[in-house]
Amino acid sequence: MWEQRNPVFQAEIDPSKKTIVVLGSGWASTSFLKAIDTDHYNVVVVSPRNYFLFTPLLPSCTVGTIDVRSLIEPVRFITRHKSREVRVYEAECTDIDTDTKTITITVSTLAYDYLVIGVGAQNQTFGIKGVEQYGCFLKEVWDAQKIRSKLMDCIETAAFPGQSPEEIDRLLHMVVVGGGPTGVEYAAELHDFLVDDLSSWYPELAGKIKITLVEALLNLLPAFSKQLIEYTESTFKEQNITIHTKTMVKEVREKDIVVQKPDGTPDTIPYGLLVWATGNTTRPLIKNLIARLPETQTIRRGLEVDDWLRLKGTEEIFALGDATATKYAPTAQVAAQQGKYLARLFHQLAMQELLQNEVGLASTDAEKVAKERKLRKVKDIKPFKYSHQGSLCYIGSDKAIADLPFGQGNVSSGGVATYAFWRSAYISNLFSSRNRALVITDWLKKTVLGRDISRE
Ligand code: FAD
Ligand code: NAI
Repeated sequence: MWEQRNPVFQAEIDPSKKTIVVLGSGWASTSFLKAIDTDHYNVVVVSPRNYFLFTPLLPSCTVGTIDVRSLIEPVRFITRHKSREVRVYEAECTDIDTDTKTITITVSTLAYDYLVIGVGAQNQTFGIKGVEQYGCFLKEVWDAQKIRSKLMDCIETAAFPGQSPEEIDRLLHMVVVGGGPTGVEYAAELHDFLVDDLSSWYPELAGKIKITLVEALLNLLPAFSKQLIEYTESTFKEQNITIHTKTMVKEVREKDIVVQKPDGTPDTIPYGLLVWATGNTTRPLIKNLIARLPETQTIRRGLEVDDWLRLKGTEEIFALGDATATKYAPTAQVAAQQGKYLARLFHQLAMQELLQNEVGLASTDAEKVAKERKLRKVKDIKPFKYSHQGSLCYIGSDKAIADLPFGQGNVSSGGVATYAFWRSAYISNLFSSRNRALVITDWLKKTVLGRDISRE
């Protein structure tokens, strides 16, 4: 058992084989790494994070329902079962040179035969003044930790004697910008923390802690069915979460945000904690690559790929997940399916090369014909096809919503039973049995002992 769990017992990098450099250790790259056959390739991973993060449960870490360590898995653990050693470099790729087929990491360069780009996207701010400086994002482990710490900071500061009622109200006003799934799930988790724990530990403040969600469009969760949007909005109302739709944030200042109200007039909203969840934008690395290929890369939203995930305008580069601009939503589901598909495609490419050689070496006509038939089969690489498994979102008070494909249509459901489904779906999708055991333990701990209110 143990022998297979360490690079010492894996085959070494083979200079006669082609090298695939994989950028990123998120949903797309990790799913690729899990499925790639290292018998045929050398694989090198470059990512500033040396772990995979299970993002769907990240909002639970902002209030301590789940510990961040329960949701991460080191890349080296993931690749330890491969037949050949996978090199992992904890670094950010800062440049991709398509002419020399090299990438730049810190002070050195790495050569690739194939490059797989799975660097995801970064937080969208629309260039709105003050967002980077005063807002908290929710994308990475450290974002969840920062939100948790900032929240407790606001509450402890508000509990301090001798402050004006206005200042206490400001400190206890938690504002979420963006009514997509990230903003909604964060508001829901915060509500649960408030009701289950904070109101008992800070009885003098409990009634004063307010949650407000600001969304520029007509309603929250535009990707969900109308019925589930209404259900979420009415559940938030019951939970005393204020929703301002058709309200656009124009500027973020140290203690308040400037918004444009539905009637077009400006207003200010004071806040203690501001969580900014307005979606994704392209990373600088990707912007630079797009600029290098002006004839084939024409969309600023991300990398354009063909139906086989090959970067348009190149032969050896593939891109997947949130870094790409496709007809699919930027979700973990899409990224994971693309990663798995691409590993299969690479297997077929390796088989093609192998069979091509074997055809040349065939000693009889019959053998040659048989090999050629096999070669035709592996040359027929099917394009990527996404299979949507449904959308889920937690909305607080042990309720979740689900839009699930059924036959030619869709089934929508919301409530406590859907939450049970939400939990089982995420538990079964977690990366490893280790992650599963840790998350279940965290849930049990929360039920029995409540959430921890210490400031880290
Ligand atoms: P990521 O998972 O973001 O991974 C990108 C990787 O690239 C990271 O390892 C990063 O460190 C690395 N990287 C960045 N820059 C560089 C560089 N220059 N060089 C090398 N590596 C680099 N989707 C769902 O389908 N269901 C959900 O329930 C869901 N919940 C979510 C909850 C939250 C809070 C968030 C933020 C997202 C959620 N998503 C969900 C969306 C989902 O997480 C993304 O669509 C998914 O992570 C995209 O995968 P990716 O591999 O393209 O990018
Ligand atoms: P999003 O792009 O889905 O939503 C962002 C929201 O912010 C939009 O509704 C937009 O109108 C609003 N907005 C933008 N600028 C604004 C402004 N200035 N003022 C007020 N509102 C503004 O982003 P999100 O939620 O981060 O999701 C990103 C991706 O990750 C999506 O594809 C989503 O489906 C996926 N995801 C899925 C989850 C799930 O399935 N449970 C959970 C979290 C994310």
